[in-house]
Amino acid sequence: MERIITVANQKGGVGKTTTVVNLAAGLARLGHRVAVIDLDSQGALTISLGFDPYTVRPSTYNILLDQGSTFSEVLREARQRIHIAPANAELIAADYKLYNEADRTSRLIEALQHPRQPFDFILIDTPPNLGLITVNGLVAAGELLIPVAANYLSMRGVRSLLDSVWLIRERLNPRLKLLGVLPTMVQPKAPHAKSAIYEMQTVFKQKVFHSIIPYDHAAATAPALRQTTLEYAPSSAVATAYLHLAKEVSNAN
Ligand SMILES: Nc1ncnc2c1ncn2[C@@H]1O[C@H](COP(=O)(O)OP(=O)(O)OP(=O)(O)O)[C@@H](O)[C@H]1O
Ligand SMILES: [Mg+2]
Repeated sequence: MERIITVANQKGGVGKTTTVVNLAAGLARLGHRVAVIDLDSQGALTISLGFDPYTVRPSTYNILLDQGSTFSEVLREARQRIHIAPANAELIAADYKLYNEADRTSRLIEALQHPRQPFDFILIDTPPNLGLITVNGLVAAGELLIPVAANYLSMRGVRSLLDSVWLIRERLNPRLKLLGVLPTMVQPKAPHAKSAIYEMQTVFKQKVFHSIIPYDHAAATAPALRQTTLEYAPSSAVATAYLHLAKEVSNAN
């Protein structure tokens, strides 16, 4: 059974893209066939895997806005067992252009339902807002993964994110489940880190992943070299944590 996981948090810079890249790398390492979908006009996921969001075509823009464009046409092979549907900078206008379309929230899921090659996992990276592009990601998914940076005030906004998510579930996608909340950028020595994780566990209970992603410069350096952190620094704490997360995700369900 193919699992479609959307990674979302309207707060910027919490590790959404880093999680998609390295969870994909970890799942591929475990032998799974993975596709990643870049729905962010910034194209950070696209860049991280070696494509240029200013020139790459077709892109997820075409999936969302050209009725004739298929998911298969947009997919490119990024690594062994990892395909990417890249983002193009044209996506900046997509939220606005989708606004007047009757099927504005279901363009992505419609594209995924066309005949195409099968995957074990499809991971969707979303921009830091809850606009129509992110809604397309939430409508297409069976599962939601929320990265939360383990710092002071990090939990602010997660409740309102979940309120919006449950509204989307009620109206647009009753299949959507919360896969888990992922503590990211954890600095073990920082005084607030423990209390931030404790607060996540109090609120989300067993929905907090056992895998905890540490703060590690290797995570920030790898994208500049167009590498995943698992490639750039395979024995780093952050690569180890993402491989652990891949096992946890693959064993869930
Ligand atoms: N565990 C980590 N340790 C150190 N730096 C990290 C870690 N995870 C991500 N980063 C860095 O922090 C920055 C933000 O991460 P990332 O781009 O994954 O967040 P995002 O939630 O996708 O951001 P946006 O909301 O802008 O899309 C990036 O420069 C990234 O390389
Ligand atoms: Mg991002």
